[in-house]
Amino acid sequence: MANTIATPNTAYNTHLQDLIEYPEKGILSKVILKDENCQYTLFCLAKGTEIEEHTSARNATVVGIEGAGKLTLNGEEIALNSGVFVFMPAQAPHALKADENLAFVLTLSEQSQVKKYVSPQTIELIKSTAPLLKKQGQEITKRMYEIMFENHPEVKEQFNMNDQKDGSQPARLANAIYSYATHIDDLEALKSMIEKVAHRHVQTHVQPEQYSMVGESLLQAMKDILGEVATDEVMAAWKEAYQLLAEVFIKREHQIYEQDA
Ligand code: HEM
Repeated sequence: MANTIATPNTAYNTHLQDLIEYPEKGILSKVILKDENCQYTLFCLAKGTEIEEHTSARNATVVGIEGAGKLTLNGEEIALNSGVFVFMPAQAPHALKADENLAFVLTLSEQSQVKKYVSPQTIELIKSTAPLLKKQGQEITKRMYEIMFENHPEVKEQFNMNDQKDGSQPARLANAIYSYATHIDDLEALKSMIEKVAHRHVQTHVQPEQYSMVGESLLQAMKDILGEVATDEVMAAWKEAYQLLAEVFIKREHQIYEQDA
């Protein structure tokens, strides 16, 4: 993994004091280790540095190494110095001020786990849309790319636009969505499709945060093309189902990016 000090799955030890370096102003951070689950980062803050209140999507711990600061967590002020341990649940607002040069290790814990299932009702609804997707899938995916490229023209750079013009990429996406609709309760059966797509996504530098853009465009396209058939219930089921598929891809692509780094 680029820019980390230690290698995942390999024993490592160090004396943290040897890694500490204070910048003249602001923050210097060093990722000590990062694996699929956790990230361990040493933060060195110059005296007077403040980090404004924010939240994190992941659980985190802070272990004070040296110096002095104030960590405000859920509105409560905690003196942060050598030996102090703090657990910060995901989404808890926190802020920090370094009264002196301050060093601590922040551990971001597990990434949100991939949901393993969707509700039986969702499965039934999704499967009921499979025949429509077989018939109108390509109309939907053509519309989906139209919406996405109109709202996010910069994303065109990642695509082969000839494959858009001749319809081959909309056809590939339509096939994938149809396979998913028919096998939503048996993701094992989709393994080879997921592998192929995930590798192509890594080649084309697809990022986790791009999944919401594709999801929104796809759901809008389903509504546009399917019309009245796309009831609120059907759309809610597809929203949930898309989220699951996106998580499966994001997790697999993360692994491939890590292997390739
Ligand atoms: C669950 C959501 C998604 C599905 C089902 C999906 C499906 C696919 C499929 C089937 C392919 C063709 C793979 C091949 O055989 O070569 C593909 C390629 C691709 N996908 Fe996705 N994708 C999804 C999300 C995304 C996202 C979020 C992006 C971000 C922009 C993206 C960008 C691309 C790109 C750039 C390619 C290569 C296209 C080309 O060669 O022109 N996809 N995707």
